Amino acid sequence: CGIVGYIGNRGSQEILLEGLKKLEYRGYDSAGIAVFTDKGLEIKKSKGRLAMLEDKLKGEPLEGSVGIGHTRWATHGKPSDVNSHPHTDNSLKFSVVHNGIVENYLDLKDELIAKGHVFVSETDTEVISHLVADEYNGNIVEAVQRAVKRMRGAFALGVLTEYEPERLVAVRFASPLVIGIGEGENFIGSDIPAILEHTRNVYILNDGEMAVLTRNGVELMTTDGDTISKEIFHVDWDLVTAEKAGFDHFMLKEIYEQPKAYRDTMLGRIADDGKSVHLKELSMTDDYIRSIRKIHIVACGTAYHAGLVGKSVIETLARIPVENDVASEYRYRSPIITPDTLVIVVSQSGETADTLAALREAQKNGARVLAITNVVGSSVAREANDVITTWAGPEIAVASTKAYTSQLIAFYLLGLHLARVAGTQEQAAVEEIIAGLHALPEQVESILEQALLLKQVAESMAHHKSLFFIGRGVDYAVAQEGSLKLKEISYIHSEAYAAGELKHGTLALIEDGVPVIALVTQELLYEKTLSNIKEVKARGAHVLAVANSGFEDEVAKSVDEVFSIPKTLPILSPALAVVPLQLLSYYASLALGHDVDKPRNLAKSVTVE
Ligand code: G6P
Repeated sequence: CGIVGYIGNRGSQEILLEGLKKLEYRGYDSAGIAVFTDKGLEIKKSKGRLAMLEDKLKGEPLEGSVGIGHTRWATHGKPSDVNSHPHTDNSLKFSVVHNGIVENYLDLKDELIAKGHVFVSETDTEVISHLVADEYNGNIVEAVQRAVKRMRGAFALGVLTEYEPERLVAVRFASPLVIGIGEGENFIGSDIPAILEHTRNVYILNDGEMAVLTRNGVELMTTDGDTISKEIFHVDWDLVTAEKAGFDHFMLKEIYEQPKAYRDTMLGRIADDGKSVHLKELSMTDDYIRSIRKIHIVACGTAYHAGLVGKSVIETLARIPVENDVASEYRYRSPIITPDTLVIVVSQSGETADTLAALREAQKNGARVLAITNVVGSSVAREANDVITTWAGPEIAVASTKAYTSQLIAFYLLGLHLARVAGTQEQAAVEEIIAGLHALPEQVESILEQALLLKQVAESMAHHKSLFFIGRGVDYAVAQEGSLKLKEISYIHSEAYAAGELKHGTLALIEDGVPVIALVTQELLYEKTLSNIKEVKARGAHVLAVANSGFEDEVAKSVDEVFSIPKTLPILSPALAVVPLQLLSYYASLALGHDVDKPRNLAKSVTVE
């Protein structure tokens, strides 16, 4: 989602709408603004693109020089007028825009309902506006501080109240927020592009910090009320760079957003004591779960590759047989779908025509469908019986990165949820996997710190006509995703092979200098993969191994280069091993001068069969 806010002497509506336009890349399923007019705090909002809101405002503009605005990427509650921000309370005196997730909103909502509050939307944000109103006794800053203390999750807020029209309150808690400093006017934005047109001087808030804006000043403090001071950050980016948060491409930005996407996707789904996973959003009963005899995972492209890892995860953890299908094939192969088949569709966009058709086919045959998707309110999300949302946030680059890895996290959580109900795992094993999951975001960060090593490898690889990815088990699944990534954006021909299968034909293609990227992360299989590496080495291949630290030294003896990834459980390694492959593709594409974010012939969302 995107947040913008203004307090000054100019008409705020234009400034808010302009700011929201710059934030549309953060979400675009609905938008709204709240402005102090001579009638009080007035709100206008609309489902759909920003243009819909602009149309609404054309006839009856909101005139006033203080306001907040929001462009939404739905989390709790489908895209609709009523679920759009800003939200208000029953007195209509408070208005809130919010970016992020309030984990304990249902508990807070129950409590507020018991006190007489009446809710109109399905969102977690509406709870915040009621909570602030409930805590208010004459000082908006203190009310927000008290409200925030009661909220768990990740959020950034902009808050206005009609009682104090000279103050705009902003809070950051694990969702980005910046304060723009002007002359006789000040701004808030969830991102620099929202305010860049007006000022290049900003305060970047950290977690647990807040700001109180008036026309003539900005007061900074912690959410506990302790005053703080901060250096002004001078932005020297142009708008295009600012949209990418300083990265050269959306793809690179999204690769670097993965630690956050992992954390957000796990948030609220793992018990605080680290002992179990409960996907409370699933409506399927435990009895139903115990009755599942077969699972089909159906998807396209990168999502299909996430499903390949999903198969291993579910079979290993929950001991339910899984088949994978490419969605465009599924319908036409008359799959055997029975009422005890669970069909899992995986789709970043939730709009892929083939995937949607597969979902309908499955339901027509009496199966329940569980969707793993990144877009709340998408077609797939609406039609599926159950949904697990990946909280990767909007993905702009055509080549999928953070959506794929968030899908992996969703599969780990689902595997643990099914295993808990089916009773297929020892408690100690479950706790070990959960600890492993919690460690992943930092481990990804440590891989990202090594990115420049991969840049060098990519540059030398980019001049080859063809290359190969090999691996066994889940490494083979990751190899397939690595190969697809490279093809998509570098246009270099590549193939992924199960390492042990090479010798049955493909080995004939290996000649002097051909790059081979070998994934070696599985303890039980690494000696076997090493034998396959020796087969290609003997034919002159140049081998880069991506190896789990622990046996990287052993692997180093047989290959030309090793990129080592932090130690994790074998089943979790795809969530780490894919990251260097994403970076390799990115840097190869860059070296060849291609349009990284918009590769030729491809589209982000394919809504034709
Ligand atoms: C397109 C995109 C791919 C994506 C696939 C499935 O082909 O270019 O990156 O993996 O569609 O998209 P979905 O939104 O269903 O995950």
